[in-house]
Amino acid sequence: MNILLTGGAGYIGSHTAVALSEAGHEVVLLDNFCNSQKSVLDRLERILGEVLPCVEGDVRDTVLVTRILQDYKIDAVIHFAGLKAVGESFQKPIDYFDNNVSGTVNLLRAMRVSNIKTLIFSSSATIYGVPQYLPIDERHPTKAINPYGRSKLHIEEILADVAASDPSLCIVSLRYFNPVGAHETGLIGEDPGGTPNNLMPYISQVALGKLLCLNVYGNDYDTPDGTGVRDYIHVMDLADGHLATLNFTERNSGLHTYNLGTGKGNSVLEMVKAFEDASGKTIPINIKARRAGDVAACYARVDKANFDLNWKATRNLQKICTSILNFQKHS
Ligand code: NAD
Ligand code: WQD
Repeated sequence: MNILLTGGAGYIGSHTAVALSEAGHEVVLLDNFCNSQKSVLDRLERILGEVLPCVEGDVRDTVLVTRILQDYKIDAVIHFAGLKAVGESFQKPIDYFDNNVSGTVNLLRAMRVSNIKTLIFSSSATIYGVPQYLPIDERHPTKAINPYGRSKLHIEEILADVAASDPSLCIVSLRYFNPVGAHETGLIGEDPGGTPNNLMPYISQVALGKLLCLNVYGNDYDTPDGTGVRDYIHVMDLADGHLATLNFTERNSGLHTYNLGTGKGNSVLEMVKAFEDASGKTIPINIKARRAGDVAACYARVDKANFDLNWKATRNLQKICTSILNFQKHS
């Protein structure tokens, strides 16, 4: 199939491009590089041995997106493009709603004009808000607690209305939990600019000596060791999840929602230990107060994706940490 990946030069998009391309799909990337580097394209070429077509542009540009859909005879779209920093979304809510919500509406319009029926959307576990029970299944109530999360929730609601308006469409929202890790070659991975907000990029910079120690935000949660628990999923498992979803869309129509996680929670201290084991380095930690907006624990129930998509995350914490270390060597 011919697949358009919006935001395809980003962290999850680039890894998914590899999985799809290796499975024989023709992949086209659209990215405005507001949060990615053009060097990713050379790295994708080194991994795949071929150049992936990439259009530099904005998903909010309906004319451009329509042209890409038609010129490349696109069969399905995976929509990664968007802004994703929770903290920044409080400072710049208009940018978040414009980029994420308006971007999706524009994409839907271009798809309708071009008669393209299949869309896979990057949603997030953040839309569940404070967990009412664990593990979180797809029927868990949604209640986003930050503008970023609300933008994802608005998009899911829009997608439901659009899917209901045309039974021939197939729209799948994938709610990612905590994507981490890098491609096994170490050529692509997560490369946040500045001081990282997220745990694994932060730990890896401490290991490199770029940051002195990890601030652990809270050790008094109601979790086994008191630190926050999350469902860390290897980004290549996530990429394989998109491939499985694409196969699913070939046999199905309608609106579908899946959690993509491992189904298992790990604490901050467990992640530190896993990284220390993999790297042979000590990660100094400093216990700090809880971070505003954090929940104690969040992990997925993944039976629905396992069953319907015939997909399961298989890579363990050791694989996650060694892939990050390998990516560091190539950065
Ligand atoms: P990322 O920032 O690495 O990738 C997003 C890409 O989209 C970037 O390359 C960026 O330049 C591009 N982009 C942004 N706005 C654009 C626009 N208007 N037009 C064209 N390109 C644009 O982020 P990621 O981690 O790869 O996340 C991909 C998607 O998954 C996002 O929608 C994000 O909200 C969602 N998600 C990510 C996580 C996570 O922890 N990484 C978790 C849940 C959901
Ligand atoms: C994980 C754990 C922290 C950094 C975020 C977004 C979410 C989703 C994924 C997009 C928590 C602790 C962290 C540090 C720490 N993204 N921590 N010291 O908050 O679960 O999810 O990324 O959709 O929307 O909110 O991930 O990696 O920031 O934190 O102790 O320096 O690590 O308190 O328990 P989070 P995270």
